[in-house]
Formats: sequence, structure tokens, C-alpha cells
Amino acid sequence: MVRLHSPLILSEVEGLKTFKMEHKPVMSVEVSESLNLRPGCVVLDCTIGTGGHSELILKKIMPKGRLIGVDRDKESLDYSRQRLASFTDAVTLVHNNFRNIGDILNTAGVDKVDAMLFDLGISSYQLDTPERGFSIKNDAPLDMRMDQSSYISAYDLVNNLTEDEISSIIKTFGQERWHNRIARYMVSARNAQPIATTGQLSSIIIRAIPKGFNRSRIHPATRTFQALRIAVNRELESIEEALRKSLDYLNIGGRISVISFHSLEDKIAKNTFKRFVKEARAKLIQAKSGISDIRAKPEIASPEEIEDNPRSRSAKLRTIERLE
Ligand SMILES: C[S@@+](CC[C@H](N)C(=O)[O-])C[C@H]1O[C@@H](n2cnc3c(N)ncnc32)[C@H](O)[C@@H]1O
Repeated sequence: MVRLHSPLILSEVEGLKTFKMEHKPVMSVEVSESLNLRPGCVVLDCTIGTGGHSELILKKIMPKGRLIGVDRDKESLDYSRQRLASFTDAVTLVHNNFRNIGDILNTAGVDKVDAMLFDLGISSYQLDTPERGFSIKNDAPLDMRMDQSSYISAYDLVNNLTEDEISSIIKTFGQERWHNRIARYMVSARNAQPIATTGQLSSIIIRAIPKGFNRSRIHPATRTFQALRIAVNRELESIEEALRKSLDYLNIGGRISVISFHSLEDKIAKNTFKRFVKEARAKLIQAKSGISDIRAKPEIASPEEIEDNPRSRSAKLRTIERLE
């Protein structure tokens, strides 16, 4: 029997301080060039988060523009609602998974849009809200749900899946070399008591990785945390489904940009776009160089942006334009 959600409440986790950091939109100059935004455009921001990209988009599409902003996370939508209050008439916010793109546009009363943006993963706002349980930095209940109304949390996966299932998640979604050991240590720890917090999980992972193999710049638990987050939110399935459907909801000449943060996400964008190009339904766009052929490489953040916002270091931006 799967137990849903961590039985811990926030105040039970010692020393937990709540603070929230504003999310800096990544590659915003490149995004607004890639999307070819003009006054009057209708834009679907599939991952509105705290509204950083949307605010910049709105400035480009007004007057007469319209923005539909989507997020699975209600708290982020509330944040965006306040941030974008001065554009109220032009903005429709929808709480949904972007994989339901048809329903989302239907709710907004729109058939097709001129531009779509997918800025994948989680925001700094979510990461730095300890009670969401995404971060290794704070000891908090093991949650990791992007949509707080969904049923399965990281607690459920970690404490109920078999060792093989855990190992396979860590291998596939975290590309973690020590997946077998980490899963074994997790199962042995939970036999004594459930693994209830990010801190407990993080120390188990540190113990599982053999000493001397811990030399990378990133925290040893980073890959496992990424894997669990992807599994809890079934992220890759959503991206695949949304991108597969996306062209059908785009006007001819309209553009789709995807910003990804790891190779699993980027591979889906790359392969889906390649397929569209092969079917002669779209062309690849590289805003900076004006290249629009099949070899177009993803764009990356400038050294200045990486210096200012280290999160942009792993960002890759891919764009297509609908042809027919
Ligand atoms: C990187 S943040 C976006 C930040 C945003 N561009 C900004 O400037 O504030 C990604 C957002 O996408 C949301 N998200 C991720 N997957 C989603 C999905 N399948 N459906 C809807 N929203 C999703 C997350 O909840 C998060 O708020």
C-alpha cells in the first residue's frame, strides 16, 4: 500500500528557515529574438513560473497582444498574477500540465498562437522554498511535487518502490554511476525508519558513494535528487507529449522555443524538432546567426550571463518555425 506524502510537517524539521528567491529568467534576450515577438502576437508561456520571461514577452507584444501563462504550480501562478497585474486584460493564467495543451488553449478561448515558450525544469523560487523539498541545501520534508495537488511525492517513491525500481530511476533520470549502491543504501536505511527528509536522503547518498569518487564540483546527491524529481513529476513524458502536439496549435510562421537544462530534456526537444523538419512541417531557427537549417546548434548563454546567473550555465535553447 503506497502511503501518500511525507508524514512530517514543516515545523518538525529542525532549523528550517523559509526564504524565497526571485527566479532570474534565463537567456531572455535570445528567447525574445528567437520568438520573433511583435505587437499583437498571441503567446503561450507553457512554464510561466514567477513570470520573468512573460513580463519581457508582454512588453514586446503590447499593444493588442495576448499571453496565456501555464504552470502546474499554483503558488508560482499566484506570484505571476501579482507580478503581471498591470497587464491583467492581456493575460490568462491556467493551472495545468502543459501536456494538456489543447485543453489549456480551449480554456483560454484560443485556437492557435504565434509563439510558445517552454523553459523546462523547476524555478529558483521552487528550489529555494525549503518546504517544497527540492533542495539538497535545506533539511525539509521529502516532497518534490511541482503540482502540490498531485498524489505521489518523493517520500512515496523512496519508501515504497523496490530496490530495482529505485536503482532504475536513479540510473535513467540521474545518469548516476552509483545507482545500484545508492538504491541498496536507501532500502537498508528505510528498513530501520522511513526516509522522511531531504537531509536524511542526502546523507544516505553521501554514505553510498565510495570515498574518493566524490570529487566532482556538484554535490554528490545532485543526480539522485534530479532523478527523483523527474520521476515524481513524470517530467519527460509531459515534455514529449506537449512538444509532439505543439505544432498543431501554432500559426504558420509561428515559433516554439525550448530551454532545457539537462541532456534528457534537450534530447526530446532535439529529436522532436528534427522530426518536424524531416516532415517539412518546420524549420530550425538560430536567432543569433540567422541559420535555419537542420544542423542548427542549440544556443547557449553568454559568458556575462553565466557569470551573473550560474543557473544559465547548462541552458540550451532550441527554436523552430512552423512552415505549413
Ligand atoms: C524554469 S521555471 C520557469 C521560469 C519562468 N520562465 C520565469 O521566468 O519565471 C519552470 C516552471 O515550469 C513549471 N513546469 C514544469 N513542468 C511543467 C509542466 N509539465 N506543466 C506545467 N508547468 C510545468 C514549473 O512548475 C516551474 O514553475
